[in-house]
Amino acid sequence: STKAVILVGGPSRGTRFRPLSLDVPKPLFEVAGHPIIHHCLKALAKVPDVREVILVGYYDETVFRDFIKDSVKEFPQFRIQYLREYTALGTAGGLYHFRDAILKGKPERCFVLNADVCCSFPLGEMLRLFEEKDAEAVILGTRVGNDAATNFGCIVSDSHTKRVLHYVEKPESHISNLINSGVYLFATECIFPAIRSAIKRRTMRPRLLSYPSSDNLESSFVAAGDDDESEKTEVLRLEQDILSDLADSNRFFVHETKDFWRQIKTAGSAVPANALYLQKAFQTQPEELTPPSATIVPPVYIHPTAEVDPTAKLGPNVSIGPRVVVGAGARVKDSIVLEDAEIRHDACVMHSIIGWSSRVGAWARVEGTPIPIGSHSTSIVKHGIKVQSITILGKECGVGDEVRVQNCVCLPFKELKRDVANEVIM
Ligand code: GDD
Ligand code: GTP
Repeated sequence: STKAVILVGGPSRGTRFRPLSLDVPKPLFEVAGHPIIHHCLKALAKVPDVREVILVGYYDETVFRDFIKDSVKEFPQFRIQYLREYTALGTAGGLYHFRDAILKGKPERCFVLNADVCCSFPLGEMLRLFEEKDAEAVILGTRVGNDAATNFGCIVSDSHTKRVLHYVEKPESHISNLINSGVYLFATECIFPAIRSAIKRRTMRPRLLSYPSSDNLESSFVAAGDDDESEKTEVLRLEQDILSDLADSNRFFVHETKDFWRQIKTAGSAVPANALYLQKAFQTQPEELTPPSATIVPPVYIHPTAEVDPTAKLGPNVSIGPRVVVGAGARVKDSIVLEDAEIRHDACVMHSIIGWSSRVGAWARVEGTPIPIGSHSTSIVKHGIKVQSITILGKECGVGDEVRVQNCVCLPFKELKRDVANEVIM
């Protein structure tokens, strides 16, 4: 059988997802009407062989309780559990710590998904490649622009055999634009021994290792001592500590997806993720969305409890959350409007996220800048300064009537009474 692990991380991560992560753990943030990790479950549900999904992270025990309750109703074929690391153990450390739970029932294979990616999760195709090649590991790859590639794990592969020849996590200089999409399929009999030998290696050579990292992981890097205890608390990363070695094995393959792929890191990146998942739903399950009309430019998702005035024009790429009120003549485009927010009459919201219970006044404008197609960045340079493309209002913010907000990030509970542009409002 095949199991699946979703790496959900914990509250010390997701800092780039502020201010939205102040009010909801990033994996549960809703895009296209569903929590980010619901989209992972939906893809896993299409693999007939998967019966158990384990969320691994270091959020509090209670965080995923309701989500799991709802998910087992929707996906009765799954047993879903959350296993909590006592501290951040790293992407491989978490897997290793819970190896007994993962290996229970003797699954031959295990999918591992980063919770913070948005894609069509072509898991069936990965499984096929895995079988065909009798692989130890299959990684999902995607092509990005040369300028973006070094922000990700880079894969050098043989295009004919699909074998991974080299893997380098966030290299300093360009080596490939085929990057790690954060989705893996591992043979269980290979991955745990591989982690085990990485631990051994490190224990034997304490303090000699240092890793390039763009994510400031230095502080979480604990050099190993030689006693067992420090070995246990060691941060182990799949990317730096395991994948490069797997590439030497000859049984590590890459499935390249030509479909959409984005990382969900910054709060602003929820807007392109929302757009991509809405577009996908529009093609595959249009009944989940609001039907097109003179005032609905698809794809648009409106929660059944929202109240949208029939003269308001919505879309494309708009999600409207529970109990949201949208007034007459309002215009909403390429945006996410969260629970209980209100957009008054004739207001205009574009390329923005409107936080929970926020209010946008009549004739107000809340605007960001569209993210160019294919771009993996959510910031732009305006008048020589770096600003967020997407405007974000945190929870319970207020924008006064006729006020214009452009390319701003606004922390929770702020009242904007004057026009603001290119600022972080604290
Ligand atoms: N359980 C657990 N414990 N999960 C973790 C931990 C941990 O200690 N650390 C990170 N994660 C989870 C995050 O929540 C996220 O889902 C995933 O692991 C990867 O997060 P990062 O370690 O921050 O890596 P990254 O996002 O900068 O880069 C990774 O993903 C890229 C694709 O989005 C790498 O795998 C890159 O190679 C890859 O290109
Ligand atoms: P399409 O999206 O292709 O229709 O082109 P567009 O962006 O030019 O027009 P759209 O219908 O998307 O309307 C967005 C434009 O409406 C913005 O550029 C604003 O200038 C303008 N607008 C500003 N405030 C309001 C408002 O209160 N209501 C409406 N409906 N539009 C507004």
